[in-house]
Amino acid sequence: MHREVTSFVRRSARMRESLRRTYDAQLGGLVVDVPQGELRTSVAADATPLDLPALFGREAPVVVEIGCGPGDSLVPMAAARPEVDVLAFEVYEPAVAALVARLVREDVGNVRVAPVDAVAGLDRLLGEGSLSEVWTFFPDPWPKAKHHKRRLVDRAFADLVASRLTPGGRWRLATDWDGYAEQMREVLAAQPLLVAEPEDRGDRPVTRFERRGLAEGRAITDLVFRRA
Ligand SMILES: C[S@@+](CC[C@H](N)C(=O)[O-])C[C@H]1O[C@@H](n2cnc3c(N)ncnc32)[C@H](O)[C@@H]1O
Repeated sequence: MHREVTSFVRRSARMRESLRRTYDAQLGGLVVDVPQGELRTSVAADATPLDLPALFGREAPVVVEIGCGPGDSLVPMAAARPEVDVLAFEVYEPAVAALVARLVREDVGNVRVAPVDAVAGLDRLLGEGSLSEVWTFFPDPWPKAKHHKRRLVDRAFADLVASRLTPGGRWRLATDWDGYAEQMREVLAAQPLLVAEPEDRGDRPVTRFERRGLAEGRAITDLVFRRA
């Protein structure tokens, strides 16, 4: 899947100091070594799907989180479910470095992070029907109309996520922007493989993004769709 407009603003190819220190501290094993394209956050066009059992050291259901930030949802949720493995995509290197440090500090062993664009990552690094769950919590809202095209969750992305889920697998999404929640509902409802389930936050903890949204008077929406 090729997408001209990304859901994040591109940054320079130079590795930030925070991530460099992560590698220097021998923690690079938690960061997936992705064949890069032209940009630091892109995935090489000829990249092949990851060997997930080799990456996690076992065979287990795999969950993907898209845009995990420093792991405010990811770390507690992964720690509470040691029977699954979680692959997180995050393009912002200071967040990747903070996540890795937290995984080590809290001794959470079932998470790996791919520091690349999740759209290309899902497309090129993960096979069809390979995921038991996908989490998209508080994707950048791009509230201005002229920026809506940057929103991650659109028709093409819904097709991509649906194809990566195993039958019965779930896509969980959260946002604090009503307009984006509406867009998510419409786009996912129109995707032939996805079936809406009751809206439910489940085990998702309250994060900084959520608190900020609440403090600014916005309501939180949690969506759940199941792949038929
Ligand atoms: C608003 S933050 C939410 C972080 C986290 N999910 C939470 O709830 O605390 C959105 C995150 O998604 C990341 N992001 C945006 N587009 C992305 C993409 N295409 N691939 C990977 N990460 C992305 C951003 O760098 C940012 O860290």
